[in-house]
Amino acid sequence: MSSRKCLAIVLAAGEGTRMRSQMPKVLHQLGGRSLLAHVILAARAGGSDDLAIVVGPDHNAVSADARRYAPNSQFFEQRERSGTAHAVLAARKALAAAADDILVLFGDTPLVQFDTLLKLRAALAEGAAVVVLGFKPANPQGYGRLVMQGGALVAIREERDATAEERKIGLCNGGLMALAGNQALGILERIDNKNAKGEYYLTDAVAVARDMGLKALAIETAEDDVRGINTKVQLAEAEAVLQQRLRMAAMEAGVTMIAPETVYLSADTKLGKDVTIEPNVVFGPGVTVEDGATIRSFSHLEGAHVGKGSRVGPFARLRPGTELGKDVHIGNFVEVKEASIEAGAKANHLAYIGDARIGEGANIGAGTITCNYDGVAKHRTDIGKGAFIGSNSALVAPIKVGDGAYVGTGTVVTKDVPAGALAIARAKQTVKEGWAKRLRQVKALGKNLPGKKPKRS
Ligand code: UD1
Ligand code: MG
Repeated sequence: MSSRKCLAIVLAAGEGTRMRSQMPKVLHQLGGRSLLAHVILAARAGGSDDLAIVVGPDHNAVSADARRYAPNSQFFEQRERSGTAHAVLAARKALAAAADDILVLFGDTPLVQFDTLLKLRAALAEGAAVVVLGFKPANPQGYGRLVMQGGALVAIREERDATAEERKIGLCNGGLMALAGNQALGILERIDNKNAKGEYYLTDAVAVARDMGLKALAIETAEDDVRGINTKVQLAEAEAVLQQRLRMAAMEAGVTMIAPETVYLSADTKLGKDVTIEPNVVFGPGVTVEDGATIRSFSHLEGAHVGKGSRVGPFARLRPGTELGKDVHIGNFVEVKEASIEAGAKANHLAYIGDARIGEGANIGAGTITCNYDGVAKHRTDIGKGAFIGSNSALVAPIKVGDGAYVGTGTVVTKDVPAGALAIARAKQTVKEGWAKRLRQVKALGKNLPGKKPKRS
C-alpha cells in the first residue's frame, strides 16, 4: 500500500455557529492542539502525501494553524457552503492531480485514528471506488443512514430525505469517505443538489458510483472514531475520550498513574518508563519527562523537560523553557520559567526561578526569588555549581553567583558574587534584654511602655 499515493482533503469551511465562539470551530482545542491539527496528524499517520484543506472566507488563522502541522498543505476557499460534495470540489485542482487514494476528512471529527484510515485505503486498494465508515450510535438522529442490500452498500440517505422506514436503520454514516483517485472527479461531478436541503451531498457518491457500475462499501467502526464536534458539550465529551486514550497509552508504555482519571495530558506529552504521576497533575503542551521521574500532586507543567529521576511537586509549576537535569528536586510552591536547573540541584520550597541557570548540585533556599524583570526588560541569573542560596534571598538580575559561593539568608544580591565567596546584606540585629517580659508586665497593669501613646478606649 505504501506505493499508493494518497491525498487527504480536509473540510474545514464550516462556521461552527453552535460553538457560540469568536474562534473558527476547527481551532478549538483537544489535548492542547486544535481539532484541525488532530485531523491533519491522523491523515499524515495514515500515509497521506498531500493535504488539501478547504477553508471558508477569512481563513488566515485556520491556514496558519494547518501549516504548523503540515507545512506543504494546499488551501482552497469555499465561499458558499453548498454542501459537503461542493466543498470537496473546491479542491478540484488537487483532485485532478490523480492520487491513487483520496481521503475526505472532516475538520470537526478529530478522533479518527490512523489505522481506521489505513483500513479505508486497503479497501480502495482491493478495488472499491467509494468506502465509507459505518457506526451504530445510541441515538442515530441527524446522521445519514447506510442503505444496505444483501450486504452491499447501495446508498446513504440523509435524515431529512429518508423515508420513515429508512430512518429505522441503525447503521449510520460516520461522514469521512475514501474515494478511488481515478474515479473521484467523475463521481463528484455527477452529484446534484436535488434533495431536501438543496445541497451537494458527498454521501450521494455511493449511489452515483453504483450507477457507474463501481463498487461502494462500508466499514464499521467505533462511535469515538467518528465523533463530530458541534457544541462545547461535544468538545468536552471528545476531550474525555482523548484523555482516556492518552492515559491508557501512557500506562501501557510503563507510566504509573495512581488516579489516571485525574491526570490531564496533552496529545504531545512524552513520558518515560517508570515515571510516576500522582493524582491531579496537568500537562500542558510540550512536556517531556524522562525515565524514573516523579510528578507529585497538583503540579502544572507546560513546555518543560524533566530529567531522569527528578522529583517535581507537590504544587509545583513548570512553565515554558524549563529544563531540569537528572535528579533535580523542585518542591512545593516553586515556579520555574525559561531556566535550566542542572543535575542534582534543589529548590524545595517557595521560590521563583525565571530566566536562569542553576548549576549542578546548587541549593536554592525557601523564598528565593530571581528578580528577572525591571519593568522594561528581562535579565538572566546565573548560579554556579554547588552554590548555596540562603532562604528569602532576592537575586536582582542580571546577576552571577559563582561556583560554590554562599548567599546569606535574606540577602538582596545586587552585585556578582565570586566563586567560593560569601555575600550577605541584611539589617544589623539589635537585642534588648528583658524587653518582652517588661512589656507584658506593664500591659497587665493597663499601662503602656514609656514612649508609647496611651491606648484609646
Ligand atoms: C454529514 C453527512 C452525514 C453523516 C454526518 C456524520 C453529508 C451530506 N452528510 O452530515 O451522512 O452522518 O456528516 O457526522 O455529507 N462542510 C464544508 N462545506 C460545506 C458543508 C460542510 O466545509 O458546504 C464541512 C463542515 O465544516 C464539516 C463537514 O463538512 O466539517 C461535514 O458537514 P456537516 O454540515 O457537519 O454535515 P452533517 O450534516 O453532519
Ligand atoms: Mg456534522
